[in-house]
Amino acid sequence: MLLKGKKVGFAVTGSHCTLQKVLPEAQKILDQGADVIPIMSESVQFTDTRFGLARKWYEELERITGKKPITSIVEAEPIGPEGNIDALIIAPCTGNTLSKLALGITDGTVLMAAKAHLRNQRPLIIAISTNDGLGNNAKNISILLNTKNIYFVPFGQDDPFKKPNSLIAQFAKITDTLLAALEGKQIQPIIHYHI
Ligand SMILES: Cc1cc2nc3c(=O)[nH]c(=O)nc-3n(C[C@H](O)[C@H](O)[C@H](O)COP(=O)(O)O)c2cc1C
Repeated sequence: MLLKGKKVGFAVTGSHCTLQKVLPEAQKILDQGADVIPIMSESVQFTDTRFGLARKWYEELERITGKKPITSIVEAEPIGPEGNIDALIIAPCTGNTLSKLALGITDGTVLMAAKAHLRNQRPLIIAISTNDGLGNNAKNISILLNTKNIYFVPFGQDDPFKKPNSLIAQFAKITDTLLAALEGKQIQPIIHYHI
């Protein structure tokens, strides 16, 4: 029960192929005694893909956490003034969301949750999953690596020869990254050769 008494936001974004792998990590956080607040980006809320219907992800998050997910900027905004989330996790975090975060753009539910939460100087944990992590988004990752109160779940190349720019986090390390971040520490090593 390492997270007893903690309130943790768990935000999912549109890396649709990794959602199934990430949801058990929300369960692990609950198993450690935390209260988990589910949050969904618009892309997850509204896109049916070969990996699952949008409705399925809403229902899964609701089933696991016992709460209706936050699905709008209006619902996410009070996270700032209420200041009641101890840590916010974005997992999976797309290249789209991480680049907007790096540039201060707040045009969606998860981005609003992140902005509101960072206002309170509390930890934001990012688990990236993006095909352009070593390409067009490398600069945005480096901005976030240097941003106060932002922590990364260790990541590496998932398929270096077929997808040389692709980076993905070790989702199984989300809870460990969260525990370290709550103490103001970045878990190490941050880069892994094998995912
Ligand atoms: C089937 C499918 C899988 C995708 N997987 C990824 C992914 O793994 N990583 C990523 O950065 N974008 C991925 N995308 C693109 C994002 O869903 C898209 O950029 C979207 O605008 C992200 O919005 P969000 O960041 O607000 O969730 C995928 C799109 C589709 C349709």
